[in-house]
Amino acid sequence: MLPAGIAIAMPLSAVILAAGMGTRMRSSLPKVMHSLAGKTLLTHVYATACRLSCDAVYIVHGHEGEQVRAAHDTFNARWVEQAQQLGTGHAVMQVIDSVPDSHHVIILYGDVPLVGVETLSRLVDAAGDAGFSLLVARLEDPTGYGRIVRDEAGRVLRIVEQRNAGEQEKLLCEINTGMMVARADLLKKWLALLTDDNAQQEYLLTDVVGHAVREGVAVRTVSPVSNMEIKGVNDRVQLAELERHQQLVQAHALMRRGLTLADPARFDLRGNLETGEDVFIDVNVIIEGDVRIGNRVSIGPNCVIRNSHIGAEAAIHANCVIDHAEIGARNRIGPFARIRPGSSLDEDVHIGNFVEIKQSELGKGSKANHLSYIGDSEVGERVNVGAGTITCNYDGVDKHKTIIGNDVFIGSNTELIAPVTINDGATIAAGATVSKDVAAGALALSRREARVVPDWKRNNGKKTDQN
Ligand code: UD1
Ligand code: MG
Repeated sequence: MLPAGIAIAMPLSAVILAAGMGTRMRSSLPKVMHSLAGKTLLTHVYATACRLSCDAVYIVHGHEGEQVRAAHDTFNARWVEQAQQLGTGHAVMQVIDSVPDSHHVIILYGDVPLVGVETLSRLVDAAGDAGFSLLVARLEDPTGYGRIVRDEAGRVLRIVEQRNAGEQEKLLCEINTGMMVARADLLKKWLALLTDDNAQQEYLLTDVVGHAVREGVAVRTVSPVSNMEIKGVNDRVQLAELERHQQLVQAHALMRRGLTLADPARFDLRGNLETGEDVFIDVNVIIEGDVRIGNRVSIGPNCVIRNSHIGAEAAIHANCVIDHAEIGARNRIGPFARIRPGSSLDEDVHIGNFVEIKQSELGKGSKANHLSYIGDSEVGERVNVGAGTITCNYDGVDKHKTIIGNDVFIGSNTELIAPVTINDGATIAAGATVSKDVAAGALALSRREARVVPDWKRNNGKKTDQN
């Protein structure tokens, strides 16, 4: 026996409508595949449905359905095709026979991405035993939306679409968000009664409300926690509006967890960010994918950090791009450094301006401070890489490795032709081209002595004509 007051959760199926064309996006990409804060619109809605602990999630797809499905193949969802888009009621009809009678059904929209779990939980609770609830909102400008028509006692009578509304009805400011919860057995019955006998010649899901009322089912209404939650994306202007809103929501949440952002309006998170204590992020930083940042790290302006881990007390200076990389504790990176996928820097590594590191490991305390390319390399500890050092890792056909031991000193303007190994403690003189392995402790030198001509007059002393 359950203690009194604890409701038995009813099984819930979610139906996400995502078959529409999205014509106003003017895009070859299906609308629900457009990105908001780094995730597709559909991913936001699916994730919310999952957080509601739905027993099943159905996605109705149509326009470019295969592309939508392929892009979301990690979803544990049942994909249902609506070959012809004959209206929102018709879309739900494609699914409803698969839903057990004992379930409640929640209808969500693939292009309304920011609806929250709290709002939807309330909607589910409101459906309760009576069997039907609608998410509604009051808008200053209700143009375009279906309006909620109530009787004098305030009971919902029906929904009238903008197109079908009379002048008086158009003045109603309470609108249908489209989201609703209904008992599956009832919804099945009401859907069977829909016709396309209307101006749109579509099966309108909203018409089920009239049928519910006729059967004496009380239609409960719930309002969202915030009106941003019910906003749909129809064009790129609306998409950008939701993006800015969501970015600010995310930034504020991170700040409340202890992150300092120089300006929350100039910070973009397109994925998930975990930060330690007292992390500082300057303006115009973009974080993508899964990023973890350790305690007391500072990130300079205009950095892009993607799927990477930054160790404690590291300083990433302005204008760095760090992608799928592991940055060790107390590293100093940049300004203007590029750390590419598969790179792993141990503690106390310094990477300076115009240095590119690709698929390479650098040991503790190693430094490459200026103008270098280190690719497909294993670099030991305390190595000094001079300015203008290039690992020549590509012979035009294959990539090769460069191995550099501990305590190696590489002079400036050096080419290391891979595959090549520079053993512990070796010194490479500035300007060397090294294509053979260098033994531990050895000096490699390939330098043409400069010829010096004394008392040289440039151009025989004649002034060059600058024109
Ligand atoms: C719908 C509601 C309206 C509400 C508005 C909120 C109906 C009849 N009207 O109108 O009351 O105020 O949403 O934004 O439901 N879809 C399909 N298959 C179809 C048609 C639509 O999957 O055959 C999907 C669309 O991709 C979209 C959603 O259903 O995600 C809503 O369709 P849309 O055409 O935008 O409905 P509205 O006319 O805006
Ligand atoms: Mg719409």
